[in-house]
Amino acid sequence: AASTHSEPLPPQTQNWSFNGVFGTYDKGAVQRGFQVYKEVCSACHSLNMVAFHDLSGKGGPGFSEAQARVIASGYNLPAEPNERGETLDDKGNRITRPGVLADHFPPPFPNEQAARAANGGALPPDLSLMAKARQGGPDYIYSLMLGFGQPVPHGFTVQEGKYYNPYFPGRNISMPPPLHPGQVRFADGTPPTVEAQAKAVATFLAWASEPQLEARHETGFKVIAFLVLFAGLLFLSYRRIWHGKP
Ligand code: HEM
Repeated sequence: AASTHSEPLPPQTQNWSFNGVFGTYDKGAVQRGFQVYKEVCSACHSLNMVAFHDLSGKGGPGFSEAQARVIASGYNLPAEPNERGETLDDKGNRITRPGVLADHFPPPFPNEQAARAANGGALPPDLSLMAKARQGGPDYIYSLMLGFGQPVPHGFTVQEGKYYNPYFPGRNISMPPPLHPGQVRFADGTPPTVEAQAKAVATFLAWASEPQLEARHETGFKVIAFLVLFAGLLFLSYRRIWHGKP
């Protein structure tokens, strides 16, 4: 039977600090969003394209290099083979080493099969470019986070093992509601409402998908400023060269 109400709702538009030609990331929000990704989303979602050194890069969350190094060392990554070419220790466990600045965030699952097996057959997508990949970007991510637990319209069927979320195409999503009030304790004391966590993680993922946004906006500003000055200069030269000519 055809289910009604399967068209997704348009995302709720937010006033993001990074919108517009002068937009910059709210560093506090990027840091809080990193905390949400780390403590919640990273249980299922990889962030393959982000390296630990990005956390202390210009235009990012604004961690110092020392802080980024500490964050990196808190992760265990599969170590390179030892001098005998082994990757497993005596007990048959994968040899690991602490992360360094040059490493990228390690994925939660070793491969797609393992990821699907842990998620009822569904694949949690990599989040590196999620804020670019979906229509609505950060608004979509924010809305998706708030879209759980809403009343299911009469006549709509929630499939087995799935959850109703009106912002998701088809409205049946395999992701369990990830955010709950008070789920993280923000280091800066921001009250951890679901809205605040959603806004923070959407900001963090927007930054992850475009770490060069601030540099791009700055360059754009310089280019326009130069063009305005140059136009003025050209106009003055024109007046001088053509002075007194018919
Ligand atoms: C899908 C975000 C936590 C499992 C997604 C999608 C986004 C997302 C943006 C893609 C939706 C789309 O395709 O349009 C997040 C964020 C999280 C989080 C920001 C943390 C706050 C989790 C956790 C799990 C999980 C903890 C596992 C318990 C999944 C699965 C899908 C998915 C299985 C695929 C859904 C489907 O195709 O039906 N998530 N997620 N997510 N997520 Fe998450």
